[in-house]
Amino acid sequence: MVAQIGTSISTAIEWLDKGQCVGIPTETVYGLAANAWDETAVSKIFLAKNRPHFDPLIVHTNSIGRIEDQIAHLTPAAERLLEKFSPGPLTVILPKKSKIPYLVTSGMETVGVRIPAHSLAQELLGKLKFPLAAPSANPFGYISPTTAQHVFDQLAHAIPYILDGGPSAVGVESTIVDCSLQEPVVLRLGGLELESLFSALGREIAVKTSSSNPTAPGMLESHYAPGCPIEILAEPTLDVPPGTGFLGFQTPQKASLYQEIRLLPLSSSMAEAARLFFKYLRELDQLGLSKIHAEYAPDRNLGRAINDRLQRAAAKR
Ligand code: TXA
Ligand code: MG
Repeated sequence: MVAQIGTSISTAIEWLDKGQCVGIPTETVYGLAANAWDETAVSKIFLAKNRPHFDPLIVHTNSIGRIEDQIAHLTPAAERLLEKFSPGPLTVILPKKSKIPYLVTSGMETVGVRIPAHSLAQELLGKLKFPLAAPSANPFGYISPTTAQHVFDQLAHAIPYILDGGPSAVGVESTIVDCSLQEPVVLRLGGLELESLFSALGREIAVKTSSSNPTAPGMLESHYAPGCPIEILAEPTLDVPPGTGFLGFQTPQKASLYQEIRLLPLSSSMAEAARLFFKYLRELDQLGLSKIHAEYAPDRNLGRAINDRLQRAAAKR
C-alpha cells in the first residue's frame, strides 16, 4: 500500500466507511483518523503509528450536538469552553457514552472530544455518519505533521489516503482541558492560549501537564522527539561542535559556527512561531546534524505550548 494524497472528500469517506485510516487536515496538526465507534478501525490507528494502547485518542465531530452524542453529560465548564472556543484548538475531557470503545480511551471512563476548525475537516465530519478518532498523524513519539507531505513521508506505507488541506494554520496540538471533575484542569498546553481560557472561565485553573500525572497517560515526558538530540540553551555560551544546528528566535552568539540556523518570528501572540515550530524542527532533523541547540520562547501565549514541546523533545529517552 502507498498512500494517495488528494483533496477528495468522497475518497476519504469511501476509505473511512470501509474501516480504514485516513490522514486528515486540522487547524492544529494533521490527524490519523478512523471511525471512533468501530474498534477494528481504531486498532489500525494504533498499528500504523506504533502507538501504545495506554495512550488514549481524541474523538472529532463537527458540532456540540454531536459531541453530546459521544458523552454521558456536559459539565458547566465544558459547555462554556466549547461554546466559546469551538470550532478551534480545544479538546475537553468528559465522561464517555458506552458506544465509545475502551480502545479509544485506554480503558478510561472519560473521552477527549474536539471540533476542528478546518473547512475540509468540517465538511468531512459533516458528511460522515460517525465521529473520527484521530491522534496526530506521526509515528509514536515523533514530531507532529503540519502538512500532507509530512504525513506521507512517515505513514505512506501504512494508510491508503491523505486528505490535503494545506499547511496547518495553528501548528501545535489542541489545548486539553479535563472537564470530567468538579474543577477543570489543563492537561496539555496547546493552540488555545491559557490567557484566553482563563479569561473565558473568569478565573485561573490548575495546569497539570507533567508526565507523572496519571490522568493523562499520553503526556509522556519524552515526546515530539526528533532523531537528532536537542539541547536547550540556557546560556548562550555553550560550545558549538561541528554539525550543530540552531532553532531559536534571535541570531545566536557564535552564529558562524552553526551548520544550519532556523529563526522563528517573535510576536505578541507567538502564533507565527507556533505555526512554523514543528516544520523547522523536522527540517533540522532531516539534515543529519550531530545535535540541535534550541532556545526557549517567551513564556506567554503560544510560547508556552512551544516551550512544552521543546522540553519534551529535549527530554532524555
Ligand atoms: O490538535 C490535536 O489535538 C490533534 C489533532 C489531530 O486533533 N490530535 C492530537 O492527538 O494531538 P494525540 O493523540 O497526539 O494526543 C492526544 C492526547 C493523548 O496523548 C492524551 O494525553 C490525551 O490526548 N487524552 C486523550 N483522551 C484522554 C482522556 N480521556 N483523558 C486524559 N487525556 C486524554
Ligand atoms: Mg501526538
